[in-house]
Amino acid sequence: MKYIPLGTANVSNIILGNMRISDLDDEAIRSLVRAARDAGVTAFDHADIYGRSLHECETRFAEALELSSSEREHLFIQTKCGIVKDPPYYDSSYEHIISSVEASLRALRTDYIDLLLLHRPDALVEPTEVARAFDQLRASGKVRQFGVSNHTASQIEVLKSAVEQPLVANQLQLSAAHAPLLAQGLSANIKIDQANVVDGGGLLDYCRANDITVQAWSPFQGNGHLIFDAAGFPDLSRELELLAAKYDVEPIAVATAWITRLPQPTMVVIGSTNPARVADAAKGSELPLTRREWYSLYRAAGHILP
Ligand SMILES: NC(=O)c1ccc[n+]([C@@H]2O[C@H](COP(=O)([O-])OP(=O)(O)OC[C@H]3O[C@@H](n4cnc5c(N)ncnc54)[C@H](OP(=O)(O)O)[C@@H]3O)[C@@H](O)[C@H]2O)c1
Repeated sequence: MKYIPLGTANVSNIILGNMRISDLDDEAIRSLVRAARDAGVTAFDHADIYGRSLHECETRFAEALELSSSEREHLFIQTKCGIVKDPPYYDSSYEHIISSVEASLRALRTDYIDLLLLHRPDALVEPTEVARAFDQLRASGKVRQFGVSNHTASQIEVLKSAVEQPLVANQLQLSAAHAPLLAQGLSANIKIDQANVVDGGGLLDYCRANDITVQAWSPFQGNGHLIFDAAGFPDLSRELELLAAKYDVEPIAVATAWITRLPQPTMVVIGSTNPARVADAAKGSELPLTRREWYSLYRAAGHILP
């Protein structure tokens, strides 16, 4: 397992996503977390909205694990706030951030959150309010570090106009089959592929230049299909299988490695609820895909290189 910098922390580049655990019983949650930890995973992703009701997945995670304070210290637990579900809208006001974090602390049964992410950009954001909330949470020891999710470079710059706490992570949708963040940059000036996605081109470079660790969510999906699905991705699924045979791993490890191969600190947020699949995926943490292999997967996913 490879460990990488995330602000002041050092974490596994594989992070277990807990968005889908609400239907698992306690033993299934323990098996999932055990499989991740046995593979060397130290980081765990949550959000206030995961589950059918608010804070449900955070609650189920804490109920199942019953972590002692010394066990808690060995885990890097992050959560997110800023989405209101019903009806859907975004809220990064001071009051919303503070009340969401207080509820996450109770649900997770912990005194502190290692990393808090603003889940989505909010068109009505007031950076001074975010700054006030982050300063208070940091000063009280309730949150150790801060970051964002699904934010563009300019949205991060707007936050930084007032927020003094370093923004150390940006969680973004990225897989071999959903790669506008790379495709736009690779196709700069040329109107092909997914190049019309706003702000995709410079975002990974911006994160790299600003020491913002990228966290890739939905790493095994694209266009509503699993990337291993031959019906949805005939060329990509075949290429993943060929490379899996070469490296003696499962295709899910190769799909993971396609992301961990990026030159900047990048984490893969794995959302499987299947312990064996998590263990298989974690084998992609350090798999050294060659340039030829990385680009062959990119092209097999349907991207065009100019
Ligand atoms: N920041 C954001 O806006 C955002 C948005 C979405 C998600 N997230 C985070 O990212 C994490 C990962 O997202 P995700 O769950 O969408 O990603 P994912 O890991 O790409 O997908 C997981 C899903 O794919 C299934 N799956 C994976 N490999 C499979 C295979 N070989 N065969 C059959 N099914 C397979 C899993 O089923 P099994 O459970 O049966 O393995 C599970 O339902 C979430 O848990 C959450 O923490 C963040």
